[in-house]
Amino acid sequence: MQIFGVDIGGSGIKGAPVDLDSGDLAAGRYKVATPQPSAPDAVADAVAEVVGHFGWTGPVGMTFPGVVTAGVTRTAANMDKQWIGLDTHALLGARLGLPVTVLNDADAAGIAEMTFGAGRDRDGTVILLTFGTGIGSAVFTDGRLVRNTELGHLELHGRDAETHASSKAKEDEDLSWAHWARRVQKYLAHVEMLFSPDLFIIGGGVSREADRFLPLIEGIRAEIVPATLRNSAGIVGAAMTASRAR
Ligand code: BGC
Repeated sequence: MQIFGVDIGGSGIKGAPVDLDSGDLAAGRYKVATPQPSAPDAVADAVAEVVGHFGWTGPVGMTFPGVVTAGVTRTAANMDKQWIGLDTHALLGARLGLPVTVLNDADAAGIAEMTFGAGRDRDGTVILLTFGTGIGSAVFTDGRLVRNTELGHLELHGRDAETHASSKAKEDEDLSWAHWARRVQKYLAHVEMLFSPDLFIIGGGVSREADRFLPLIEGIRAEIVPATLRNSAGIVGAAMTASRAR
């Protein structure tokens, strides 16, 4: 069976139909730039363009880079503040005229990785962290997700951790891999102190370059592996969630 997944991010909005049996995209993904400012109506139009590109008329799962409870977006660290408190489920459902499901982007990526990727068949505590514009988190215990954990906003050196250790921080401050890896290591040590995970899965676009920084990270007890679904994890997890909601 196929369901459509859309991953809404601070810089891009991408989507594709997903084959839920294999976890593969059933067609090449289509991506548009996130409108700036990323106001809800403009983003809803962009989502409609992505879904319309495929002529899709079935259910659609969507991610959002913030806390989502019962379809309402509660935070928007890297999006326009008009999203805070908005019934995003209603807005996007009305704009598309299709059944929609909305969840946090890192939670979606985690769901996909736990089923089809690096977390497959892994029990215990597994934490997926996505390093991109922000830091997203998805915490699983024996395969069950605790939603909206927002570990990217833990305090590190008196700062919001994601402003210090995201891949955007690496780019903005032009940090070397070694320098950035030290920051990621301190961040992982802090998360490990709180949760004692068995496995960390490192996702986000930077996971493509895992060879350049994971070998530099020391002193973490948990196993650390790169995500395997790379930048389609959000799309796949969104589609899986929409399928379960039916
Ligand atoms: C948001 C999270 C999101 C993460 C990755 C953070 O700024 O608060 O909800 O998962 O960025 O996009």
